[in-house]
Amino acid sequence: MKVTVVGAGAVGASCAEYIAIKNFASEVVLLDIKEGYAEGKAMDLMQTASLNAFDTRVVGTTGDYSKTADSDICVITSGIPRKPGMTREELIGINAGIVKEVSSSLVKHSPNTIIIVVSNPMDTMTYLVHKTTNLPKNRIIGMGGALDSARFKYRLAEALGAPISDVDGMVIGGHSDKGMVPLTRLATRNSVPVTEFISEDRLNQVKEDTKVGGATLTKLLGTSAWYAPGAAVSGLVQAIACDQKKIFPCSTLLEGEYGLKDLCIGVPVVLGRDGIEKIVDIELNDGERNHLKESAEGVNKTNGLLEL
Ligand code: 2OP
Repeated sequence: MKVTVVGAGAVGASCAEYIAIKNFASEVVLLDIKEGYAEGKAMDLMQTASLNAFDTRVVGTTGDYSKTADSDICVITSGIPRKPGMTREELIGINAGIVKEVSSSLVKHSPNTIIIVVSNPMDTMTYLVHKTTNLPKNRIIGMGGALDSARFKYRLAEALGAPISDVDGMVIGGHSDKGMVPLTRLATRNSVPVTEFISEDRLNQVKEDTKVGGATLTKLLGTSAWYAPGAAVSGLVQAIACDQKKIFPCSTLLEGEYGLKDLCIGVPVVLGRDGIEKIVDIELNDGERNHLKESAEGVNKTNGLLEL
């Protein structure tokens, strides 16, 4: 299993680190355009191998895509991150050009790869990768929902005073402050609906805190987060590499599912060796369906800014 991570910034390096530590991949190639940077991060990571007991070989390269050849999975984290006060959508101008170039270069060297898109605005960048590469839809995956769901579970556990391992929940919709749809109705604490434990008001607070999860961190850190995005990516990569058939909400090209088409947006999918092996079309109530529809309108508006 060979995995390429493009972008050796905080998010890319964190992806490489979590993938290496989980020890399921034989090789991780870290690529960046900043001279020596990916090589440095790769070397630093390799010097943790004996300490963290992994055998994954992490290799860095300054822009040499031939080193990424025949990757099973490629992760695109490149582009600029948001600064405090910025929306993810505002990054489109610069990031669209970068993601277009990166995805073409990756597919040239790894025509059978699966691509995971992290760069923002994530749903629109996932759609752009479709338009640029023409890879089958099961092989293009946007990461946002996996991250947003982890943030949702964190906020739920905090509100419930419960361990995170006791909590389950999912966020669908676009990876944006307004577009996220945390499915509070389906959230559970060890199979018991969370509404049995906390008030409607507290649950609404959880929902709002989840939606601004990335913005809250950007304000605190001065740039966008990296640990949870990196861990979310490594979870997706592992599910594919180990053919786990796990369900994650991911941004995928819809063709009628959830009444939506010709856009990429977060919905539950089964991830295995073929990438997205199934889109799980669950029954939503009216409120959830309307929220998802509004979210899709937002994503479509951003997609409209792409020069395709
Ligand atoms: C976030 O929400 C990177 O978009 C990402 O932190």
